[in-house]
Amino acid sequence: MEARVAADQVPGARAGERALVLVGFMGAGKSTAARTAAAELGVEAVDSDRELERRLGEPIQSFFEREGEAAFRAREEEVVLELLAGARGAVVALGGGSVQSEAVRDALRVHTVVQLEVDPVDAWRRASGGGRPLARDQGRFEQLHRDRQPVYAAVADAVLPPGGRDAIRAALPALMALAEAPEGTRLVWAGSASGAYPVFFGHGLIASGFAYPAEGRRFVVTDSNVARHHPVDGQERMAIEPGEERKTLAAAEDVLRWLARSGAERGDLVVAVGGGVVGDLAGFCAAVYQRGMRHVQVPTTLVAQVDSAYGGKTGVDLPEGKNYAGAYHQPAAVLCDPAALATLEPAELAAGHVEVVKTALIAGGPLWARVRQGGEPDLDTIMGCARTKLAVVAEDERDAGRRQVLNLGHTVGHAIESATSYARYRHGEAVGIGLLAALRLSGRDALRTEVSELLAARGLPLTFEGATVDDVIALVERDKKRAGGRVPFVLVEAPGEVTPGHHVDADQLRAAVEEVHGG
Ligand SMILES: NC(=O)c1ccc[n+]([C@@H]2O[C@H](COP(=O)([O-])OP(=O)(O)OC[C@H]3O[C@@H](n4cnc5c(N)ncnc54)[C@H](O)[C@@H]3O)[C@@H](O)[C@H]2O)c1
Repeated sequence: MEARVAADQVPGARAGERALVLVGFMGAGKSTAARTAAAELGVEAVDSDRELERRLGEPIQSFFEREGEAAFRAREEEVVLELLAGARGAVVALGGGSVQSEAVRDALRVHTVVQLEVDPVDAWRRASGGGRPLARDQGRFEQLHRDRQPVYAAVADAVLPPGGRDAIRAALPALMALAEAPEGTRLVWAGSASGAYPVFFGHGLIASGFAYPAEGRRFVVTDSNVARHHPVDGQERMAIEPGEERKTLAAAEDVLRWLARSGAERGDLVVAVGGGVVGDLAGFCAAVYQRGMRHVQVPTTLVAQVDSAYGGKTGVDLPEGKNYAGAYHQPAAVLCDPAALATLEPAELAAGHVEVVKTALIAGGPLWARVRQGGEPDLDTIMGCARTKLAVVAEDERDAGRRQVLNLGHTVGHAIESATSYARYRHGEAVGIGLLAALRLSGRDALRTEVSELLAARGLPLTFEGATVDDVIALVERDKKRAGGRVPFVLVEAPGEVTPGHHVDADQLRAAVEEVHGG
């Protein structure tokens, strides 16, 4: 079946040769999603498995069983290459195993490739029982699922979590917009109970002037440091003074009144360009301005790119407590440009690295494997951290349970920040020390040594000064009372096995804090 559609109707089709190609494991719903997307775009849907069966003149299953996998893969490659060469403007669903071919992977480079994720248990439920040759043994099936993930990830421009037709339909405008973003930009579709949104990761996104969503006037909120290095166009701009001291209700009032004076309406966009301070403040203003307008996060610090820009927590500090006034308000999009980090002060970058290590410990697997090697955070690492946070938030948007794992290292870290009046350590630096205490409390000595080496390599402090052990313990206890008497410790069994809500004995806590006390 050759696609004969207007080539300018699909993402990236300006050159007239791109197709939207869906890849993913068996049971991910590629065929249905391709039909849905094609119908929305008014183009043709192509299904490589159906086309292959047509050419073979028999079901894949019988050919596979008679001729063997190698013969099947050869025929599959031939057909897929032909389809991709002629797929201008179409939406193509590719057979799950076809991306194992290097020639197919090469041919995919000119197209917009979307990976549809699927939980292996759901995939097994959908794919087994139908006689598929590779879906007969659940253990092997799940292993194959694990083995294929890096292959899909390597070819995908965009990743959609499981979500069926609704997800592809909702994501289509963002997929279309990828064509306007700098070469190499990738997209992750973030889902949460209160809304789904695209996260674009691309070098040079800010300088390129890439803007998403396109509709609405853009009210850019930034700080004066960021404005100097990374000016972003908008109809209106406001730059606050940099620093946590400006994450206040008074600053929020300034921003809100500026929005009102400028005639901002609910259909307009607040665009937060900066670190976590600007992101939290501007997000909060967007949450409350006329009871809620959309906002876009453009994170420019490592902390913001791996953590604070995602998940919808917005807010400001009160003199009585950090982040004491706030709202959950998911962004309409996040534009993450690692090139922005080039102008960040080295100490800020190092402090952000603590969040990278923390997130990699939560994720385990390939992300931890990459982060433990050291090295500068690149697009893959930042994306891996963002995806880890997004996955945690998707499970528990409002901090009822699972989301608390993101507080790994924060119980002692917060106490150190607070005991030193928020003046001596950056948040990330204090969390790094807290992370070491958490690993001691977890009884993971080798991992603690490894993490302390990673932190030391960035010049981060491994011990705190300027407060006593008793000060810090008293503040941890105060946190505990606030949490209703339950010690809110997040502990690590191993990378990838991090759980909240652990009780810790007073003696153990004292020993762990003494160990990170530098006098
Ligand atoms: N909402 C969340 O889920 C969440 C998560 C973690 C942290 N946070 C919040 O984030 C805040 C900390 O964020 P942060 O560490 O990004 O601090 P920040 O926003 O204060 O930025 C740090 C400094 O870097 C400067 N800066 C930012 N980007 C720059 C760039 N590209 N080049 C040069 N200078 C640049 C800023 O002007 C500032 O001086 C805290 O208020 C914290 O509560 C929120």
